[in-house]
Amino acid sequence: MKENAIGVFDSGLGGLTAMKELCRLLPREDIVYFGDTSRVPYGTRSPETIIRYTRQDLNFLSEFHVKAALVACGTISAVALDKVKDEYPFPVIGVIDSAARAAARCSENGRIGIIGTPATIKSGAYERILHEIAPQCRTMSIACPLFVPLVENGHIEKNDPLIVNAIELYLSQLLPFRPDTVILGCTHYPIIAHTIGDYVGDNVRLINPGREAAKTVRDMLNVRGLLSGRETGSHRYFVSDSIENFETLGGIFMRRSINGEVHKIDIEKY
Ligand code: DGL
Repeated sequence: MKENAIGVFDSGLGGLTAMKELCRLLPREDIVYFGDTSRVPYGTRSPETIIRYTRQDLNFLSEFHVKAALVACGTISAVALDKVKDEYPFPVIGVIDSAARAAARCSENGRIGIIGTPATIKSGAYERILHEIAPQCRTMSIACPLFVPLVENGHIEKNDPLIVNAIELYLSQLLPFRPDTVILGCTHYPIIAHTIGDYVGDNVRLINPGREAAKTVRDMLNVRGLLSGRETGSHRYFVSDSIENFETLGGIFMRRSINGEVHKIDIEKY
């Protein structure tokens, strides 16, 4: 049967930051989420591996005849999106462009911090686009490799001591730069935005890339006349590792139970 869902994917839980916003903005849409939890983190891997994983993730979502796929992962958006997006018959939308534009709009002092996985920071993707759309901006980029494993292991409560330590380790160098806007350049980071926000201060705007990209998806579907006309949409979640872990942490973040909606697949088959 032909389906007409929106596909959303990430290496793990981080893409839920986009999923949550999509569900809010587009309650009539069917949405299929995939979190590659058996292979998270992506952000410390080589571009070749990230590209191979991305093709498998998109091949899996293709089975649902999706009308669009949202790459709810900064790392994939930075490293693999341009290489693979034309291989699929549906639009594949990343998070970098939307987040960079939001940061350029928000920043008043022209000092923008970018934090992300090592692969995202190494790619220079955020700097490239900011340089193009807001050449007057100055940027400081910092890789935070421990944030993703900590979040995936359940350290998501406000002021979790391990998160606080990791924030101090990575972000102490950011404060002297005096940014007024910080791009949470990995979609896992908005899950710990409460603690990052406390550290950088109230006067610093935090950009949530998943949220910005969800708006882009809505606008794109609207322009193309592809929005669902149904009463309500359905949500399905797929993971490549433990269902239980994803249900527990995903439910906390989504602020509703997703028990029974999560299924396990073998991503190596794709
Ligand atoms: N949420 C992914 C991102 O936005 C995490 C990547 C990873 O698995 O390291 O970059």
